[in-house]
Amino acid sequence: MTIAVCPGSFDPLTNGHVDVINRARTLFDEVIVGVAVNSAKTPLLSLASRLEIIEETFDGVAGVRAVPIEGLLADFCRTVGADALVKGLRGGADLDAELPMALMNRHLAGIETAFILGDQSLSHIASSLVKDVIRHGGTISDLVPPVAETKVREAIAARAAASEPRPT
Ligand code: PNS
Repeated sequence: MTIAVCPGSFDPLTNGHVDVINRARTLFDEVIVGVAVNSAKTPLLSLASRLEIIEETFDGVAGVRAVPIEGLLADFCRTVGADALVKGLRGGADLDAELPMALMNRHLAGIETAFILGDQSLSHIASSLVKDVIRHGGTISDLVPPVAETKVREAIAARAAASEPRPT
């Protein structure tokens, strides 16, 4: 049985991620979607929300599951017995960013990284842009799975409420 780890922040999962995960599943028997717990970025969504979005989106899809990654990705790959890491590429800038990480993960754990080209029609989608669009009143329903839109809206509303001055 072949196992791939598809790691990321998934803050939130986008239709671009979904496309890459589905493509990875055609190549590997199991795709473990690894959600970074302590990413260098400060996520909008809680870890629980990010995992729930993935689980609900892939509910009923055999061989795809979401797992938190604590610590080094290379150690996680060893622990789960992964055959490869899988990363999606939207263009050259992604490759530039991914190359040192792929080489570092190979150095640390001997794990190979397989790069998958996502659908060209989704290459403009990035989690950071999705959050920016919704914060400025745009629609994201054609950019992310429905559960992701709901959770992103809730998280933005909760943050706004928390930063509003309390009525006297
Ligand atoms: O979606 P992102 O934010 O681009 O994903 C980055 C991620 C989670 C893959 C990367 O930050 C990572 O691998 N974090 C785990 C810690 C680690 O192993 N760091 C060394 C990477 S070479």
